[in-house]
Amino acid sequence: MIYYKTQPEVELMRQSCLLVSKALAEVSKILKPGITTLHLDKIIGSFIKDNGAVPSFLHYRDYPFNSCISVNDTVVHGFPRESELKEGDIVSVDIGIYKNGFHGDHAYTFAVGDPGPKVAELIKITKEALYKGIEKAVSGNRIGDISFAIQEHTEKKHGYGVVRELVGHGLGKHLHEDPQVPNYGKRGAGPKMREGLVLAIEPMINMGVKEVYTEDDGWTVRTVDHQPSVHFEHDVCVRKNKADILSDYGIIEMAEKANPNLYSGY
Ligand code: MF3
Ligand code: CO
Repeated sequence: MIYYKTQPEVELMRQSCLLVSKALAEVSKILKPGITTLHLDKIIGSFIKDNGAVPSFLHYRDYPFNSCISVNDTVVHGFPRESELKEGDIVSVDIGIYKNGFHGDHAYTFAVGDPGPKVAELIKITKEALYKGIEKAVSGNRIGDISFAIQEHTEKKHGYGVVRELVGHGLGKHLHEDPQVPNYGKRGAGPKMREGLVLAIEPMINMGVKEVYTEDDGWTVRTVDHQPSVHFEHDVCVRKNKADILSDYGIIEMAEKANPNLYSGY
């Protein structure tokens, strides 16, 4: 069942999505070597509550934290931990926020210190692929057009591994709505998009092979070859000529550039 949103609903969703962006900007301000991801999760939880909202992930299918924080070879759904981040780590921070009846759900990958040229390139290309997917999120196109654009830029052009087991999704009153948005697929395949469809588009791209496994905790997804993986996620509303991006990387990137502990030379 696909739910199309009215314009007033989209404006409510924009508030939820922007609140996620603001939470990610807060993370961007304080990230540095020595900080623990559990500390970041606590800050995220307080920020969400202080803004009169609810963390979408907490208790979702018994997920036990406010956010997912995935370091290096962890692809997504990483548990916040007591261990300290170190120079050269890459960190995907994924936050969901429920407010005014709608969810926002998006993510950003940061590099704590210099990750080296190969990993910096993986981050840059994954973010580019996200925007290439978003370019295809216009009415009349099909979901496969988004999928194909992401796969082309990452797997075909750069030889990276595109994770198959996890996909983007519709977003709204529920955290996960139809349709699924794979990061691989055929041009012209899948459901046709209409105006008012809100999607969370989230490429998960591995430096090495595409294969992943889930740890015994039931959540943490890691690459089988233990090479790094990058995750970016935006929330967008399908429109006629150009998708309306409801989340905002601008404030996150500004904080990233202002923080000397983060690499931002992409
Ligand atoms: N952005 C992720 C997703 O859409 C986050 C979900 S984490 C969970 O699947 F805990 F809520 F499952
Ligand atoms: Co998501």
